[in-house]
This record gives sequence, C-alpha cells and structure tokens, in this order.
Amino acid sequence: MIQDLRGRVAIVTGANTGIGKETSTALALRGAHVFMACRSQGKAEKARQEIQEVIGGQGRLEVLPLDLGDLESVRLAAQQFINRGLPLHMLICNAGLAGQKGITRSGFELAFGTCHIGHFLFTRLLMDTLRASAPARVVVVSSKAHRHVKDFSLEQVRQPTRSTGGIREYAHAKLANLLFVSELSHQLEGSGVNVYALHPGIVASDVWRSAPALLRGIIKPFMMTPEQGAATSLWCATSADCAQESGLYYEDCKRSQTSTLARNRQLAQELWDYSERCTAR
Ligand SMILES: NC(=O)c1ccc[n+]([C@@H]2O[C@H](COP(=O)([O-])OP(=O)(O)OC[C@H]3O[C@@H](n4cnc5c(N)ncnc54)[C@H](OP(=O)(O)O)[C@@H]3O)[C@@H](O)[C@H]2O)c1
Repeated sequence: MIQDLRGRVAIVTGANTGIGKETSTALALRGAHVFMACRSQGKAEKARQEIQEVIGGQGRLEVLPLDLGDLESVRLAAQQFINRGLPLHMLICNAGLAGQKGITRSGFELAFGTCHIGHFLFTRLLMDTLRASAPARVVVVSSKAHRHVKDFSLEQVRQPTRSTGGIREYAHAKLANLLFVSELSHQLEGSGVNVYALHPGIVASDVWRSAPALLRGIIKPFMMTPEQGAATSLWCATSADCAQESGLYYEDCKRSQTSTLARNRQLAQELWDYSERCTAR
C-alpha cells in the first residue's frame, strides 16, 4: 500500500463512525487531506477532533455536510467541494445503513436512496474533478449481502421499505452499488479513474444498531473491528497491486466473485439510466 499520501485529497462518506471513521484516520495518518462527508455536523465534528488527536500533525481533516437521502444536500456538498478548486484522488462511497426502514427525503426507499441514489449523484457531480485529478480512484463499499438478491427490480424503490427487517432492501441496495461500479468503470475507461467495489467483512460497527442488544453482545466477539473492516477500502484506494484494475469486487484485500446478477451489463445500464433520470433536475 502507498504509505505517503501527502498531496492527495480524499472524500469519505459516512466518516463519523465505524469503517468510514477508520478509513479517514488511516488516510490522514499517511498525510492525505480528507473530507469527512457526513450528515450530522455534531457527530462529524466530534469524530474529526478524535481523529485529529490520533494523527497529530499528519494529514488534514475537514467536515463536508452531506445527507445522501436528500439530493439537494448532495448537490450542495459536491458544489461546496468543487468550489474549493482542489483535486480529488480518492472518493470513498462508504456511508450506508442496514435494518432500518423508511423513505429518504427525496422519496426513495431508505437503503436504496442512501446507499445507491445519493452516491450515484454525488459521484456523477464529481466525475469531472476526478477525471482532471487522474490517476484517481472511486471506492464503493458494498456487501456480500448482494448475493441474496434473486430478482433485481426498480418497481419498489420509490416506496418506503416493505420487508419486516429491511434486510431484503439492504441486499438490493448493495447489489445496486455493484451494478453502479460496473457501469461507472465502463464510462471511465481510459480516463485514469479506476473504480472498485468491496465487502468490508462482518464488522462490529453501528450498522447493527437495529439488532437486539443481546444478539449484538453475543456476536460482537466474532466480528472484525472497524479498523480491520477498513482494510479492504484502504487497499482499494491506495494499493499499487490493484492500480491497473477497475470495475472489480474485493473481499479481504483480494479479488472476489460477485453474483451473476451483479455481472449483468444490461441491468447495470438500466440502473444507470434510471438513476440518471431520477436525479436530473
Ligand atoms: N459492518 C458490517 O458488518 C458491514 C458489512 C457489509 C457492508 N457494510 C457496509 O459498510 C459501510 C460502512 O458501514 P459501517 O459498518 O461502518 O456502519 P456505521 O458504523 O453504521 O456507519 C455508517 C455511516 O453511514 C452514515 N450514513 C447513514 N445514512 C446517511 C445519509 N443519509 N447521509 C450520509 N451519511 C449517512 C452514518 O451516519 P450517522 O452516524 O449519521 O447515521 C455513518 O457515518 C456501509 O455501506 C455498510 O453497508 C458493513
């Protein structure tokens, strides 16, 4: 992995806790200028200060307000970053939620709207900046839960979460992440901007907040720490080993196989077109 990231600029979404916070810490420790793109400014500022204590004089950390469920917030965040006139070498689409139910402010099923639609628009708005900053990388934190989806449909993505625990919609949203990576990598072919998708492992983070406390207590000792969970994101963002790869999926810092649905090019294009229509003004 590249150890010296001085002069490199990164955005990490969902950076106030869990895997995103550890990813931000590790990037800043190596000297990167990291924008922590978070929806709660209070939580984000607290996390920024905690990371600052760890990194001391290394790197640089700033908070970028971003609510992925609100497309106006996504546009504002992208514009705020673009206005700074900085390059963007690493965009880590990490934010997500599982086991929660509802609909986003912009009217998408909660997991789909947050994990896919918000990141889709944010990345699209930053694509010119990424291209101009090449070599650059986009890293999307998906999940091996995508393998549970047997039939990908866009019929219910404009409705509140329907399934009892929201896990069906979570798997759907994580498959959407992979289809997005597949199509994005084709669109960026030859640009010097490479795209990576990954499963971080089963990590003891706040993502389990909706699970019963007793169950959380029982399974926690068998999970990875958030620091361990950040390893594959960091590897995809910085390793020379995958510098020539794009559009692929990784687990444990190694290439891994996605489901057949995730490799369906036509589905990837359909999702891209749909997402583009939904996010156009
Ligand atoms: N933990 C696991 O075992 C596991 C397994 C597979 C995949 N993943 C994926 O890994 C990624 C990181 O998750 P984690 O485990 O670190 O979970 P986490 O501790 O719950 O962190 C999730 C982050 O996403 C943010 N977020 C949620 N909704 C958002 C929104 N509308 N706008 C902006 N930020 C939002 C959260 O912000 P708030 O604090 O404000 O809610 C938080 O910072 C997620 O994409 C998750 O699906 C995790």
